[in-house]
Amino acid sequence: MINHIKSLLAEVEAFSAASLEQLEEFRVRLFGKKGELTLLFDQFKEVAPQDKKMIGQEINVLKNLALTKIKETYELLKKSTKVDTSLDLTLPGDPIGLGSRHPVSLARNQILDIFKRLGFVISTGPEIEDDWHVFSALNFPPEHPARDMQDTFFIMQDPDILLRTHTSSVQVRVMEHQKPPIRTISPGRVFRNEAISARSHCMFHQVEGLYIDRNVSFADLKQTLLFFAKEMFGHNTRIRLRPSFFPFTEPSAEMDVSCTLCGGKGCNMCKYTGWLEILGCGMVDPNVLENVGIDSQEFTGFAFGMGIERIALLKYGIKDIRLLFENDVRFLRQFSSAL
Ligand code: PHE
Repeated sequence: MINHIKSLLAEVEAFSAASLEQLEEFRVRLFGKKGELTLLFDQFKEVAPQDKKMIGQEINVLKNLALTKIKETYELLKKSTKVDTSLDLTLPGDPIGLGSRHPVSLARNQILDIFKRLGFVISTGPEIEDDWHVFSALNFPPEHPARDMQDTFFIMQDPDILLRTHTSSVQVRVMEHQKPPIRTISPGRVFRNEAISARSHCMFHQVEGLYIDRNVSFADLKQTLLFFAKEMFGHNTRIRLRPSFFPFTEPSAEMDVSCTLCGGKGCNMCKYTGWLEILGCGMVDPNVLENVGIDSQEFTGFAFGMGIERIALLKYGIKDIRLLFENDVRFLRQFSSAL
């Protein structure tokens, strides 16, 4: 018996638990109904009287050791399962840095919003296009300089596959698939083989608009564009239309707005003319309508197109178009409060 007590003592001494369940198992093994200590106390009744004192003391030592061991282990486990107090969940979090919209996106969204209010529907199309949608359907004669490598990026020497030079190509696609009335606005990236400078880039963004219905007139075009100019640049803005030429419109015009900086008095921005050119426009050439299967006797339409970068430069008073492509965060952050 004494040996059994000794080996239990060693066992209790060495005990450690990784979890409360293990500790409970240990407790039951010693103090449960059939536990080691319970059995020892039972057996103690049969111990010869002369040994009772010695064995009794040993059992008590074992019992006390086991109880303190259980208590200590319990405390230890409790502590380690406690929430880590070094992590203070009530501290305020790191601020989430708010991004800003790119000025080109800001200008594009504003342009689209204005035309959406007039009932224009957004349409998009591929950036890699074919000759038909960019040039032929739009009445470009075969010898037109825009078809030249100097102006257009062709894909892999194939004169039929190219990067669109304007989003008028999208409007050809719309006219091919939809019957008038058509009122659509096409934003997107366009590409022109131009030297990069403060004023021009080989990749920029356009919004082009198209309206085809019965009895659409130049007066409708003018009124639409005046509305746009006032909404975009302020209600005192005036417009003027100068005769121009595009293969796909007849008559054609270029539109100026009164200078957004000086209001028309003349300043550095408008080169002391009081006017800023912002877009090209005109009545859709009947040849274009016929090319896409729309009866030009029955329908007329107007079209217009503008560079979004140019609008953004004017609207935000930016001097160099290249700033719009460099994505310097010090530049972009200035637009964080703009909507
Ligand atoms: N497509 C012309 C351009 O890219 C703009 C334009 C569109 C002009 C519609 C007239 C009518 O410059």
